[in-house]
Amino acid sequence: MPNLIVVGTQWGDEGKGKIVDILARDADVVVRFQGGSNAGHTVVNARDTFVFHLIPSGILYRGKLCIIGNGVVVDPEALIDEMDRLQAKGVEIGKNLVISHRAHLIMPYHKAIEKASEQSKGSRRIGTTGRGIGPSYADKMARIGIRVGDLLNPGLFRQKLEENLAEMNCFLERLYQVSGFQVEKVFQQYMGYAERLKSCMADTSVVLNRAIEQGKNVLFEGAQGTHLDVDFGTYPFVTSSSAAAGGACTGTGVGPTAIDAVMGVAKAYTTRVGSGPFPTELKDEVGEGLQERGKEFGATTGRPRRCGWFDGVLVRYATRVNGMASLAVTKLDVLDGCRELKICTGYRHAGRLYKEMPGDLQVLSECEPVYEVLPGWRNATTGATSYKALPPQAKRYLDRIEELAACPIDIISTGSRRDETIVLRNPLASARPKRGRARNAR
Ligand code: GDP
Ligand code: IMO
Ligand code: MG
Repeated sequence: MPNLIVVGTQWGDEGKGKIVDILARDADVVVRFQGGSNAGHTVVNARDTFVFHLIPSGILYRGKLCIIGNGVVVDPEALIDEMDRLQAKGVEIGKNLVISHRAHLIMPYHKAIEKASEQSKGSRRIGTTGRGIGPSYADKMARIGIRVGDLLNPGLFRQKLEENLAEMNCFLERLYQVSGFQVEKVFQQYMGYAERLKSCMADTSVVLNRAIEQGKNVLFEGAQGTHLDVDFGTYPFVTSSSAAAGGACTGTGVGPTAIDAVMGVAKAYTTRVGSGPFPTELKDEVGEGLQERGKEFGATTGRPRRCGWFDGVLVRYATRVNGMASLAVTKLDVLDGCRELKICTGYRHAGRLYKEMPGDLQVLSECEPVYEVLPGWRNATTGATSYKALPPQAKRYLDRIEELAACPIDIISTGSRRDETIVLRNPLASARPKRGRARNAR
């Protein structure tokens, strides 16, 4: 049965939560493989609106196993808060949630260091979510991180905490001149979290590979997006994890041979939160219109998202680095009523035409987008559930997205609700997804 990775193709917030929720109906297991509570994945169902930060977006279905993989950085306070909120809304959380004991913990000093570091950078700041993500991954790579499984060994946990705080307090107090942390206080706080989380911990690589051997469908839920990936994104204006499809293997302990396909989620336009280059950004009333109609305010921090036209170069790059077999295009309805639509086909810089993303950040930030203009549509696409019902101009727009992205569209989303969706082909319902079939299916 197919195992599918879902990733963002832009700078996050493409609507991955909605798409994962729809696909999760046909999955047995949903697993997060990277990032942490910097993610905000929104799912709207008949009952309510849910925003997931650490818990996979499949949790709303009964009988699905939801896994937080080893590649995730876990803030136990945020996780417990999320569990409590969901339970208060009547969502079952018990044996259906499993956390890798290899996942790294976010500690209070990670958030404090991130805050102080961002402040000290002034205008060069990354505009992080303030969730301690970067410092926690930095500790993991520096081999001083504390893992979820360490919570079960109080002696070792305390020793690691003491060693880390000796160094981190020095940074905080001497370099940044802010208060440090007391070992005992943090220790007690985390032992409290251990009590709550100990029954959820497991070797999730074993759990996942067993499920795959049994022929179950596994959905890998990416957070952030390709252009926030630490290797392939607009470095240093990125997050600190592997948000592209490659991260799904290292972040779960499932080998690449077990993966059948990758689906990329792309908004019908582009948004970005935080700093960094954004060639098709609209700083005028057109951009404000997209922000307003698309309700483009962060699901995690509430910050306004920068908005711009669809960028074909950006998404084609995502098709390549993720090996995407298909696309889910979201928020088509937000473009309803636009007289004309621009779509970026390349960049111009210093007299040179770029058809691929320049690797040099300086060049990228100075690029001028090359646009093609397409007619807009008058009839609303909001809530459309059939491809046939879409206005011809919207079909033409989607065709151009497919061509520029070099990737067929499987799903079109026309509203935030589950049913406001056109599924041309369900990648979890067919044995081995092939490229190009969605176009023929129309
Ligand atoms: P994620 O981080 O990729 O899961 O995306 P977010 O949840 O942060 O942001 C996407 C927002 O768009 C959420 O508020 C969704 O409810 C909403 N959304 C998703 N798909 C559609 C759509 O097709 N149309 C509209 N209007 N809203 C959508
Ligand atoms: P989802 O999963 C949009 C951005 C931040 C900042 C940069 C680094 O909901 O798509 P970090 O806190 O990760 O160190 O911040 O990455 N960022 C996101 N932008 N959606 C997200 O997640 C994001 N997670 C991080 O705004 O620019
Ligand atoms: Mg989001």
